[in-house]
Amino acid sequence: MSRYVSETPVLLIGAGMIAHDQILPALLQMRREGAVGEVTVCSQRNSSVEALAQAPMLRRAFPDVDFRAALDPTASSDEPRPEHYRSLLAELPERSVVVVAVPDQLHRRVVLDALCASQHVCCVKPLVLRVADSLEIEREARARGLLVGVEYHKRFDPRSIMARDRYRSGQFGEFKLGTARLMEKWHYRDSNFQNWFAADATDSFVYIGCHYVDLVHFVTGLLPTAVSVYGILDELPNGDRGYLWTDARVLWENGACLNVQNSLSFPDAAPGPNTQGMTLYCTGSGRGALLEHSDQYRGIAYSFGEAASGPGGTQYAEPSPDYFLYQDLGGPGLVPTGYGVRSVRHIVEEAIRVEREADSEDRRRAIIAAIESAGILATPSNSRYNEAVCEAARESIADGGRLVAVPRSE
Ligand SMILES: NC(=O)c1ccc[n+]([C@@H]2O[C@H](COP(=O)([O-])OP(=O)(O)OC[C@H]3O[C@@H](n4cnc5c(N)ncnc54)[C@H](O)[C@@H]3O)[C@@H](O)[C@H]2O)c1
Repeated sequence: MSRYVSETPVLLIGAGMIAHDQILPALLQMRREGAVGEVTVCSQRNSSVEALAQAPMLRRAFPDVDFRAALDPTASSDEPRPEHYRSLLAELPERSVVVVAVPDQLHRRVVLDALCASQHVCCVKPLVLRVADSLEIEREARARGLLVGVEYHKRFDPRSIMARDRYRSGQFGEFKLGTARLMEKWHYRDSNFQNWFAADATDSFVYIGCHYVDLVHFVTGLLPTAVSVYGILDELPNGDRGYLWTDARVLWENGACLNVQNSLSFPDAAPGPNTQGMTLYCTGSGRGALLEHSDQYRGIAYSFGEAASGPGGTQYAEPSPDYFLYQDLGGPGLVPTGYGVRSVRHIVEEAIRVEREADSEDRRRAIIAAIESAGILATPSNSRYNEAVCEAARESIADGGRLVAVPRSE
């Protein structure tokens, strides 16, 4: 149960895959526990919100919890209304919480609009794609004493916390060489992704490689200095071309090098929702040291009588109970758990705590400064190396993988 009761309303902007799979269940569980007030969901199209309201898994898990599906009454189901969220921001009481889950290239506008409406913000990663945009967001947030949390949920995976603790206590020595991969399933291409994954907007490294760049910093405290991203263009089902395969090389301030491969290519017939993991080779105490995470195989192997239904459903499966799991604890419904849930919850709870504990502007700023300097919750200022890497990566990929210096992120 929650540590406190709160009536703070939450507005979720964006009703796509991540909203269904992680964000909305986390918010509805908080609502169930009395940790937040009304949860409202809006999107560019009424049809996405309607699909969430009808989603079988959400209905099964939350028969006892409602959310407000904020449809635009002036639009037909599939008519895009990209500005609709603004009317909902206008009616939200100031200093509530807005969760932003729209495509990467739209984060800047939506986050700034939320801040200008005096709302705390939780934004899915990557916060924005340029250092200047991150600085702008930080300025707006600071001016109003608002918290912006970036939802890098791998930080809330216990294995990341264990690695950080052991690395920072010196047990691994110094990171020198590393390799990481995160390949999403092939069928992602058929989803709404194709509408925002064109080569001029984003790429596989910026979309998912950023998790491992963030994780290496989270574990080691090192900052990236240069990046080279080689991308392979491939055709999306709608005819657009996107960098659906990327190979990145990230250099760090101590001379270390991390190779990160990303794609939307993991076979639909392969087990697990994706393949991902990281190995860091370190100096140890003059003997070498190694940190290896298999981030999709969590020790469970199932071979079903029949292949599971739906895209990517397989007969042999390696499900991860750690990221997100619906647990039957006797009802009503199901309880979502996992680091994806903890991550959203932590950011929303910290935003609410700022309001609960602050009795002055100075106190509010002091609480936010303490959250930033603790370095667990990612904020614009303490995770700006991610925007710096994204910015350099976009330049590099457009230039065939040229090594580009990562701009200073302060
Ligand atoms: N592992 C992760 O951390 C992870 C995983 C998936 C997605 N994400 C991030 O989440 C974001 C969304 O990804 P997704 O997979 O849900 O994508 P998606 O395409 O499935 O959904 C995007 C949603 O945003 C809505 N939208 C677009 N423009 C809008 C606007 N102007 N106003 C309101 N809504 C608007 C769309 O209608 C859709 O509902 C991306 O930034 C992505 O990088 C993170």
